[in-house]
Amino acid sequence: MRKPLLVAKQGRRPTGLLGKLVARVMARQTAAENDIVLELLRLDPADCVLEVGCGHGNTLAKAAGLASRGSHCGVDFSSVMHRHASRRHRGLVREGRVGFHLGGSERLPYPDRAFDKAYAVHTVYFWGAPLEHLTEIHRVLRPGGRFVLAFRPAEDTRFCATHPSEIYCIRPEGEIADLVGRAGFDAVDTLRRAVDTKLMSFIVAARPS
Ligand SMILES: C[S@@+](CC[C@H](N)C(=O)[O-])C[C@H]1O[C@@H](n2cnc3c(N)ncnc32)[C@H](O)[C@@H]1O
Repeated sequence: MRKPLLVAKQGRRPTGLLGKLVARVMARQTAAENDIVLELLRLDPADCVLEVGCGHGNTLAKAAGLASRGSHCGVDFSSVMHRHASRRHRGLVREGRVGFHLGGSERLPYPDRAFDKAYAVHTVYFWGAPLEHLTEIHRVLRPGGRFVLAFRPAEDTRFCATHPSEIYCIRPEGEIADLVGRAGFDAVDTLRRAVDTKLMSFIVAARPS
């Protein structure tokens, strides 16, 4: 069944009471693919890590457990998600190990070359001009830094059929991989895996040294 527009809009930018509920549900629904992303990032203990569209913040909290001497930043433009993540992970925030920031990925609130690793999961569908956002991620990653982009591609026909195109711009895997290259990254790998009932693509890329 096609997702109602009201619900699809909450996936793009959660708001209000419904947004609070979405934050909880989303954290459970996307945990498996986020765990794969953490593996693909190959975190080192002292890595500085950025998550773009961090939502609930659970993945960043796990990253902080893996790269326990590093620093971890999550950016999201939904104030509901920003509040939810900051409260839920307040211990890590208080210790200064994780920072959640309110902002849009077309203009990231970080200096050049600030991070060793960066990732974004289920967020690319909402970028009208993905090259702009990918170029920003490239800017804030240090040379040699690793980037993982995870999404359901157009090859997942069930996803296309159930998610309204007014909200979700679902692109073929090859088109996204091409955009990642055009943003200045070197391709490392493109993987496609079935995760629960979803078909997921993972593009692993590096900023050239
Ligand atoms: C579908 S949720 C995915 C959340 C999380 N990454 C996960 O996998 O569970 C998409 C998140 O990206 C955020 N988002 C979408 N477009 C964004 C943008 N341009 N800048 C910052 N955050 C964005 C939304 O607010 C939402 O929290």
